[in-house]
This record gives sequence, structure tokens and C-alpha cells, in this order.
Amino acid sequence: MSDRELIDLRSDTVTLPTEEMLEAIKHANLGDDVYAEDPTVNKLQELAAEKVGKEAALLVASGTQANLTSLMSNCNRGELVFLEAESHIYWYEVGGISAIAGLLPWPIKAPNAAFEPQQIEDALRPRSISFPDPKLICVENTHNRYGGKIISPNQLEAISDVAKKHSLKLYMDGARIFNASVALNIDVKEFTKHVDNLMFCLSKGLSCPVGSIIVGNKDFIERARKIRKVLGGGMRQAGIIAAPGIIALEKMIDRLRLDHENAKLLGQRLAKIKGINLDLKNVQTNMVTFDLDPSIDCDDFLLRLKENGVLTSAQSKNKIRLVTHRGIEKEHVETTINAIERILSKN
Ligand SMILES: Cc1ncc(COP(=O)(O)O)c(C=O)c1O
Repeated sequence: MSDRELIDLRSDTVTLPTEEMLEAIKHANLGDDVYAEDPTVNKLQELAAEKVGKEAALLVASGTQANLTSLMSNCNRGELVFLEAESHIYWYEVGGISAIAGLLPWPIKAPNAAFEPQQIEDALRPRSISFPDPKLICVENTHNRYGGKIISPNQLEAISDVAKKHSLKLYMDGARIFNASVALNIDVKEFTKHVDNLMFCLSKGLSCPVGSIIVGNKDFIERARKIRKVLGGGMRQAGIIAAPGIIALEKMIDRLRLDHENAKLLGQRLAKIKGINLDLKNVQTNMVTFDLDPSIDCDDFLLRLKENGVLTSAQSKNKIRLVTHRGIEKEHVETTINAIERILSKN
């Protein structure tokens, strides 16, 4: 079986652009975005800011670049950032928070994805000549390593209260924030109104080939624009990236519902299979994570799954993650369940 025929459940980053997106790229009005003169980029940025209820927005190349740029725009070198111990920034962004931004990450474990306000209170130390100044709290919504878990608006509000109390800023890595809003059936602004600024990705479930957006107030975005430049992220005719982004925001959000339905179906059926330990209450959006029985060899399981036409990956030893996205239909879900049943019945 060729790799193109595989059912690819590794990530929602594997989505391909729609025909409409490709057409939009072909016909996009272009200009030089380093001069802020690309009309398509400007249109996308205005649309994005309006959609999440903030003053301004900035298109960047990736989620990683969005997080790093935002950290640097929110903080000065040497300051301290509270973040979740399993967050994407802490795990998967090559340590840019320290290596490039010069910040001290202070990880706090919150298996429900949302910090309890008391956890921040407990982690705060008195202002002192010996301690770095705390500046920022980062949250991740939905939370990748916790299998797409949602931080609710109420939880965000509680974190925001503690941030305000201690003059800290609150930033949201909202790579998949539209998954959260669709899953809870509430406007995305209900989440974003509690944070100072955030980023979200166009290139995940929303099907764009490239791009993420940073959103916040005008000052924050102006600083971010200059930081993006120093990071090598000033792009010229970036309208070819922005054109599909506009389609993503206008047309691709509601369909995330289908990805959630497919994830739920996967979760419900997999939870019944011997050898799989899966808690259905964790299947909240487009991800399904489960633990394989320790007696099963994880590498062998993944290999056999691939031989059966399904591509997926392990998040850590014996923890498997499946991600649904555009291009994954109900029949693919059925094929995946059948393949897993077959493999595990032979163990
Ligand atoms: C929560 C979260 N933040 C940031 C990123 C980084 O995005 P990118 O891969 O576009 O750099 C990811 C990527 O999967 C993610 O899941």
C-alpha cells in the first residue's frame, strides 16, 4: 500500500488545501507584506481580529513562530513564564522560550489542561532581588498532549482573575481554539475575552497549507510585527498564504463538528477493545488518546497498524494518539477500528 492511500491519523496538520483554497491562491491580490501592503494579508488580519474580538492580528508562518513571537512581545528577557508542564511550548518548540526569547519557563502540571488558580498562587514567589520577575501565564486550548481537552470559559476566567490580581498577562496557545468553540457550541469570543492575546493555527483542522495568526491589542501586535521580522518571518507576497486563510475562517470552522463526531465514534468503539485503556470523558474534540496494555509492544502495534493501512503515532511509551480531520470519513473510522480489533485479538 502506498503512503498516499494510508488513513493518516497522526495529526490534523496533514490536511491538504481544498480546491477552493487553491483557486483563491491563484487569484489572490498581492503586495509586499513587509511594507504591510499585501491586501489579502490585511483582509485576513482584519477578519481574524474581528472574529476573536481583539484589536489587531498578524499572520505568521507557523504555530511555533506564533508562540515564540508572542512570548517575546509579551515579555522582556529574563522574566518568568508560567506554563503547563505538558504544553506544546514546553515540549515541542525546541526550547525557543529559553534559547531565543531568554525567558524562564516555570512548568506547572495541570492534567485537566486548566490550572487551578491556587496553583498559580502557590508557584508565585515574592518579588525579590534574587528571583526573576513573573510576567506571563500561558494556557493551551485545546490541549494537545492531553488529547484535545478543552479549557472552558469559566476556567479561563478564574485564571484571568489570578493573573490580574498579580499583574501578570495571560496568553493562550489557541492552535485549536475553534475546536473548543465548536465542541461547546459557543462563540470563540467567550474564550478569547479572558486572555490578553492568543494565537491560532490555520494549518491544522482548518485545512490551510501554511500559517498561524497572532491576535491582541494594537501595541502588542506592533511589537510582534517587529519581532516576527527579527525571527526571519517577514514575508513578502504572503497573500498566497492569506487567501486560503480567509476561506478557512469563513467556511472551515463549522465542519470541525464532523471531526469531533468521528473522534467520539472512534473513542466509543476503541474503549470496548481488550488491551486498550481509554477514558471517554477525555475525548472532547478531534483527538483520541489511549494507553495500550503494557504487555503489548507499542512499536510492533504501530507497525502492524501501518501494514493494515492506518498511520498513527505514540505520544509516549504505549500512549497512542489518533487525530481526526478533513479527509477522514466515517468509513476510515470503521476501517481503523476493524484493524485495531484484528491486531489486538491476535495478542
Ligand atoms: C497546541 C499547539 N501549539 C503549537 C503548535 C505548533 O504549530 P506548528 O506545527 O505550526 O509550528 C502545535 C502543533 O501541533 C500545537 O499542537
